[in-house]
Amino acid sequence: MNIPSLELAETFIKEAEGLNPGPWVQHSFFVGKAAEAIAEHHPKLDSQIAFILGYLHDIGRRAGVGDMRHTLDGYYFLRQQGFDDAAKTCITHVFPLKQINSVAGKWDCTKQELDFLANYLSGIEFDEYDRLIQLFDAIALPSGFCLVEKRLMDVALRHGVNEFSVPRWKAFLKIQKEFEGAIGQSIYKVLNGVVENTFGFDPCR
Ligand SMILES: [Fe+2]
Repeated sequence: MNIPSLELAETFIKEAEGLNPGPWVQHSFFVGKAAEAIAEHHPKLDSQIAFILGYLHDIGRRAGVGDMRHTLDGYYFLRQQGFDDAAKTCITHVFPLKQINSVAGKWDCTKQELDFLANYLSGIEFDEYDRLIQLFDAIALPSGFCLVEKRLMDVALRHGVNEFSVPRWKAFLKIQKEFEGAIGQSIYKVLNGVVENTFGFDPCR
């Protein structure tokens, strides 16, 4: 696959953190760690590829504070560096449902960019790495891993729901089930710290 080395991925993240520091960096690290943990038990996936794709999925945040355009910013950045497969994940990670308007955020980009995205989406197939990062983007917090149902409810309580909410939830649960079938156990068995993160006492809440 056409992705950067671990060392280069680390360099990209450090540089991006300097440009736009924030909790997205730790979130990205845990998306990578979760993807790596599942890939270690998966017959077809490579754990280092999974980590790098997870770690870089939000690299578009380097462009500054924004909403869904971080997908395009990450895609353009990694394409420019020659890493087309890692660039793909920057777009696909927000689409557990393959529909432009189903994302959990606002498209702060131009009409041309939206047309490009729609066209790009219709021309690709999601592979298992795309699915892996879609799922763990939902599960990984900056503090670690969380039960997916809890995370989805937290988001719904904070931002409300729309007509895509239930189909998105179903899509996440379907991806979870598919990976559990492939690794022969619950995903939570291989995610360190998920119990503490999900059920721990939070004095700020
Ligand atoms: Fe993310």
